[in-house]
Amino acid sequence: MSYQRIAVRRMTGGCGAEIDGPDLRKPLDEQTVAEIRKALIENCCVFLRGQEGMTDLDQARFAGYFGTFGRDPFVEGEETHPSVLKVAKEADEGRNPTFGGNWHSDWSFLETPPAFTFLHARELPPYGGDTMFANQYLAYETLSEGLRKTLDGLRAVYWAKAYAKGAAFYDNRNARSMKVRHDESAMAEMTHPIVRVHPESGRRALFANVAYTVRFEGMTEAESLPLLKYLYEHSARPEFVCRFTWSPGAMAIWDNRCLVHFAINDYAGYRRELRRTTIRGEKPIAVGEDTNLRAAE
Ligand code: SIN
Repeated sequence: MSYQRIAVRRMTGGCGAEIDGPDLRKPLDEQTVAEIRKALIENCCVFLRGQEGMTDLDQARFAGYFGTFGRDPFVEGEETHPSVLKVAKEADEGRNPTFGGNWHSDWSFLETPPAFTFLHARELPPYGGDTMFANQYLAYETLSEGLRKTLDGLRAVYWAKAYAKGAAFYDNRNARSMKVRHDESAMAEMTHPIVRVHPESGRRALFANVAYTVRFEGMTEAESLPLLKYLYEHSARPEFVCRFTWSPGAMAIWDNRCLVHFAINDYAGYRRELRRTTIRGEKPIAVGEDTNLRAAE
C-alpha cells in the first residue's frame, strides 16, 4: 500500500517519520487510519504536528482507532476520559525527575504492555523537553550472532522500580503535578522474553530497559548486571536514535514493541504538559512462538 491520504517523511536512519495531512481533531476514515498505522509500523514512531486545540476526547477517539485502551497502573486518568493521562512538570518543580526520564518501554512490567503510546503536547517550555526514541530492531540486529542466539532463549524479570516504596514516583513527592498513586503491585515481578517478535512486522527486537528490567530469569541481579548494562548502552547507540523536538499541538505515536524512549529533563524553571494514552499490546512473543496466536489477543 502506498500512501494516498498522508505524506510521510523519514527523520533519521534510526527511526521516526513526520506525517502531514490528517486533522486529528476530526473523525478519520479507515484508509487514513490504515496509512498512519503502516507508517508507524515501518518507522517505529511517527509525529503529526499542528494539532492545537485537540481535546482529551479527540485524543481518545483517535487512539481508539488503533485498538483497545491499555491499563495504566500508578497514574490516574483525567476526568474527561480515564485513558487520557496528564504528563506534566510545573515550573517550580525545578530539577525533580521528569516522568519517563530514562530509557524505557512503557509499562513493560505488565503482562500485556502497551503496543502503542499516543502523546499530545499541550504546553511546552521555550526550549528543551525533547523526547528521544531508539530502534530496538536495530539494537538486536547489530549484536553478534553468538549473543543474539544466547539472548533468543533468555527471559528477563521486570518490575515497576520507579513506583516502589521510596522510589522517585512512589507518591507525588517528586511529581506533584501528576496524579501518581501508589499500589502494592509495584513490587510484583513479571517475566518476558528479552528478545520479542513483533506480530505485525515479524522482526525481532531487543526488549531490555534500564527502567524496568531487573535480571535474567534464573540468575541473580549481580550475575545479570554486566550483560544488562552492555545491552542498555548498546540499545541507545546514536545511530538507532531519533530525537523529537516538540512544537505546539504535536502528536507523537510510538510502538513500544520495537522502541525504547527517554524524556529529556532539561527545562527546569518552565512548565511542560502533555496528554498520554496507551493501546494494549499482546503478551510479548518469544523467538519460536507462533506470532499469529498472540497478534489476535
Ligand atoms: C513517556 O515516557 O511517556 C513520557 C515521554 C515524554 O514526556 O516526553
